Amino acid sequence: MSKNKISKNWINKQNRDQYVRQSRAEGYRSRAIYKLKEIDEKYKILKNGIKLIDLGAAPGSWSQYAAKKIKNGTILSIDLKEIIEIENIFKIKGDFTELESQNKIKKYFNDKVDVILSDMAVNTSGNKYLDSNSTGELCISAIKFSRNMLKSKGIFVSKIFMGSSFNDIMKEAKATFKEIRIYKPQASRKESKENFIICKYIL
Ligand SMILES: C[S@@+](CC[C@H](N)C(=O)[O-])C[C@H]1O[C@@H](n2cnc3c(N)ncnc32)[C@H](O)[C@@H]1O
Repeated sequence: MSKNKISKNWINKQNRDQYVRQSRAEGYRSRAIYKLKEIDEKYKILKNGIKLIDLGAAPGSWSQYAAKKIKNGTILSIDLKEIIEIENIFKIKGDFTELESQNKIKKYFNDKVDVILSDMAVNTSGNKYLDSNSTGELCISAIKFSRNMLKSKGIFVSKIFMGSSFNDIMKEAKATFKEIRIYKPQASRKESKENFIICKYIL
């Protein structure tokens, strides 16, 4: 199929998608918001006054939702890409896996946080196996970061792909958290291997 036809198909699919239409109507930057909303409604994650980190936040729908939902909270969002201004969010443009970025996050809070969210995913290369593995590595790196950064009753939520990296992610999660759940929100496309891991209570 030509590149033109692929992108026309993508545009048609987007226009038919109820979550895309809903996100446009409600002023959210991405349909991804409804995945977080479902996770939040099921696991009661976002509460007033909490400190939260949003990893891989661009274009920003999760941060928009968090900023609306959390009153008197502190939210930091980081992405490789620029995140357009969102009220009450402190943003960093950078690679989360680099020590420099992680030190900036630590310096900003100077304390442990209540929630770490990660929707980080690598740009698709066309090789699904490699993409799923690299995204798995991002999740593992976020779990390792959570170990010292989350309060003992803290919550960690991350995108994962059910693939070759799943066992490694579970191993890291089990070594870090007491409670682990895997959940696929309705808003996550059925044909995608995307799921979310929700972890609670640092060991
Ligand atoms: C699916 S998008 C996130 C969508 C976002 N949750 C929202 O609601 O708008 C994945 C993001 O992860 C980011 N990302 C991938 N690797 C990263 C890294 N090493 N550090 C920071 N961000 C990263 C990408 O730039 C991309 O913007």
